[in-house]
Amino acid sequence: MSNGLEGVIAAETVLSDVDGAAGRLVIRGRLVGDLAKTASFAEVAHLLLDGFFDDLPPPAALERALGRSRVEVFAEVATLDATLLALAPTEAARALIARLGDGDDLDAALRLMAAPAVFTPAILRARRGAAPIAPDDSAGHAHDVLHMMNGAPASAAEAAALEAYLVTVCDHGLNASTFAARIVASTGAGLTSAALAGFSALKGPLHGGAPGPVIEMLDAIGEVDNAQPWLEAALARGDRLMGFGHRIYRVRDPRADALKRAASTLGPASGRLAYAEAVERAALDILKRRKPERSLQTNVEFYTALLLEALAFPPEAFTCVFAMGRMAGWVAHAREQAQSGRLIRPQSRYVGPTPMRAA
Ligand code: ACO
Repeated sequence: MSNGLEGVIAAETVLSDVDGAAGRLVIRGRLVGDLAKTASFAEVAHLLLDGFFDDLPPPAALERALGRSRVEVFAEVATLDATLLALAPTEAARALIARLGDGDDLDAALRLMAAPAVFTPAILRARRGAAPIAPDDSAGHAHDVLHMMNGAPASAAEAAALEAYLVTVCDHGLNASTFAARIVASTGAGLTSAALAGFSALKGPLHGGAPGPVIEMLDAIGEVDNAQPWLEAALARGDRLMGFGHRIYRVRDPRADALKRAASTLGPASGRLAYAEAVERAALDILKRRKPERSLQTNVEFYTALLLEALAFPPEAFTCVFAMGRMAGWVAHAREQAQSGRLIRPQSRYVGPTPMRAA
């Protein structure tokens, strides 16, 4: 038995395939790098949801329906009170998502895909005392997110970079959050319950909570010359280097390059990008020397941090932005699992004390 279920096949899926040896991610027959260059989030959501809802409209109509769902869920922003604002953005967003009732139809799926996109900007604005900005149902999804956050129209390059990010992280095999979502879906609990399980699993630093600490690491290192001593000291303390290593990939995570490409299209980010590349080289060199038995490579979170920082998202919101993209995967996996009709219920091996016999 392995504590982390490594190597265990726990589901059959048509949705995505992670080849850790080749460094390849296929989403419904398409390579993630190609999708990130050409597809919008609505198009990739259509790709994932195809076959799981009888009334799924074509991609362009799905984009408009997603816009209408953003407007619909915006009503929940009025419930954002001081208690929720005292929480981390991930926890506040999760609480708002929990206000959406369970359902199994396309409308429920659309509300869930709209929810983090609408709630995250509203939470970020409220934390700095600014009023929320209502969604525009006619805008592109990423463009609207950036407008709701900044109160000003995004440039075409910024909107394209955020679309590329949401596409890149939309699904990734049976990762921890997707497995959590599938377990809940297998009980018949409904899509919101499954999505909340996924979101809760995502927030941990070993999964989707890593990019905030990547920024902390880059800030703490400060300059290229300090990278090697800083990283050596972190490893000597027993720390893990955030943005490196992966359960499945033994080579570079293909999403890292898709996101690096997207970040490089944002002019002001390029200085920080060059610095981050130098830190990445130093980290890979040290990890190779100190952990030669384990191939530790750059994962998706390293360039997620750079891209989202360049788009002016604060680090505490990075996991919520990850959830904007991954929600499409959670919903599709939840539907696929529910349609299989099989409850996920493994067994544990008891290693506790044996009962005492009554005298
Ligand atoms: N820095 C330093 N050492 C590492 C790192 C790292 N980033 N990742 C793994 N290792 C080491 C472990 O300490 C372990 O060494 P040990 O045997 O001497 O204790 C060895 O490599 C094997 O590690 P495992 O724990 O078996 O690797 P696992 O597959 O469980 O871990 C994980 C995967 C959690 C992603 C890990 O690499 C890690 O903690 N990375 C940093 C956090 C991170 O970037 N998370 C985002 C992942 S991507 C995503 O989920 C979207």
